[in-house]
Amino acid sequence: MISMLVPEKDKAKIRTKNKVKTIKYEIEDKYKKLGLGKKYYIKTYGCQMNVHDTENIKAILDQMGFKECEEMEKADLILLNTCAIRENAHNKVFGMIGRIKHMKEERPNIIAGICGCMAQEEGVVNEILTKYKWLDIVFGTHNIHELPFVLDKALKSNSLEVQVYSCEGDIVEDVPVKRDSKYKAWVNIMYGCDKFCTYCIVPYTRGKQRSRNPKDIIREVEKLKEEGYKEVTLLGQNVNAYGKDLDIDYDMSDLLSSVAETKIDRVRFVTSHPWDFTDEMVDTIAKYDNIMPYIHLPLQSGSDRVLKLMGRRYTKESYLKLFHNIKSKVKNASITTDIIVGFPGETEEDFKDTLDVVEECKYDSAFTFIFSPREGTPASKMKDSVSLEEKEDRLHRLNEVVNKYAREANEKYLNKVVPVLLENESSKKNGYLAGYTDTMKLVNVKAPKDMLGSMVSVRITNVQTWSLDGEIE
Ligand code: 5AD
Ligand code: SF4
Repeated sequence: MISMLVPEKDKAKIRTKNKVKTIKYEIEDKYKKLGLGKKYYIKTYGCQMNVHDTENIKAILDQMGFKECEEMEKADLILLNTCAIRENAHNKVFGMIGRIKHMKEERPNIIAGICGCMAQEEGVVNEILTKYKWLDIVFGTHNIHELPFVLDKALKSNSLEVQVYSCEGDIVEDVPVKRDSKYKAWVNIMYGCDKFCTYCIVPYTRGKQRSRNPKDIIREVEKLKEEGYKEVTLLGQNVNAYGKDLDIDYDMSDLLSSVAETKIDRVRFVTSHPWDFTDEMVDTIAKYDNIMPYIHLPLQSGSDRVLKLMGRRYTKESYLKLFHNIKSKVKNASITTDIIVGFPGETEEDFKDTLDVVEECKYDSAFTFIFSPREGTPASKMKDSVSLEEKEDRLHRLNEVVNKYAREANEKYLNKVVPVLLENESSKKNGYLAGYTDTMKLVNVKAPKDMLGSMVSVRITNVQTWSLDGEIE
């Protein structure tokens, strides 16, 4: 018998004033040996939030006795932590499910499952229930902490377990974490999003905005510092709205100050919505040397008409005012952005407004996308008369301008000496380590492996569009 709690799209968008519950994660002893002798493999798609969720899932699986393995082909448990933001993210996952089916035909005992944002989509789960019934588990973004329980049921029942809550969501503290890096760490400061930009699926897959208690966040950062971490990135879908849902008078500017006061070397944060970006925040970023001068400030469109259709709550003018305020106050600030082309009904004139903003802001880099209709969002129902060919042409023209300014921004670094945290061995160059500047530029540095985790001064010797090369001074 299939056991099911399936997502419901009408429920997913409900927002009430109900108080957010804080739950403490604890694993029951009876689950601690379930995974003994078994290996797991997780593939992660999408944003940093998913990357960090995977770090939690791995730690829970370790508690259950599973061992991590690098190769999917050797795993007894395969999980896909999925992303729903655009159609191509979906397609990649369904392609991978096809591959897993072949493996399961050869090794029927494999447990295979889907989690993350796609698991929160009613349409996706319906498709799984009709075409992919051979999968073993589907669990959502709201119940990662219930993984031991869900897995236990799947192991015992031998049939598909679907456990997905379409709810506003709780806050779960004390979830264990197995971090990918020993030097830099993701720290959730809030979950969910209440902005409901008309193209975006996130408010439906991640629930309502829930800010963590500042004390819990600061305690986590202090502990990370004690453990030797050099950098934290404060994570949320819309971090600038942090605190608005708390009972206390405490906002993102206050949180940034408190985290900076822990004296951890580097503080970063993603992602910012321009609408909630206050002057106090800009001043706080400018004030503390350990808050990095790097800001991801999604524009989405430069046309006021399109911004209104997108429900973004700012205009080209107010965006530019904020942009220039940051640039004038935060020394050496690097600003990047996200842009969507081909939003329903976007005219050539609208698109040119976007190009105008890019010409004015000369972003350090930008992530650019063609609009992808997401089921259940208002924009997916808007009339769209722009052809795919036209959208692709706009994306191409936009990328030409974005790349030109990305290269120009990097060229300014030639012969400069900049601070770099050495994080990994370079994937591109033998004998090199890779790390990031305070402004989030990727640098390949000739350095021995035992320097991993060090903060070093690097002279930039060579410049490409997306990375820099350098030598330790
Ligand atoms: N189509 C295209 N791009 C999208 N994004 C979010 N939703 C969509 C969509 N439906 C982009 C936005 C956002 C980034 C994470 O993904 O630019 O900032
Ligand atoms: Fe999506 Fe807008 Fe929320 Fe960002 S702020 S997650 S684009 S709804």
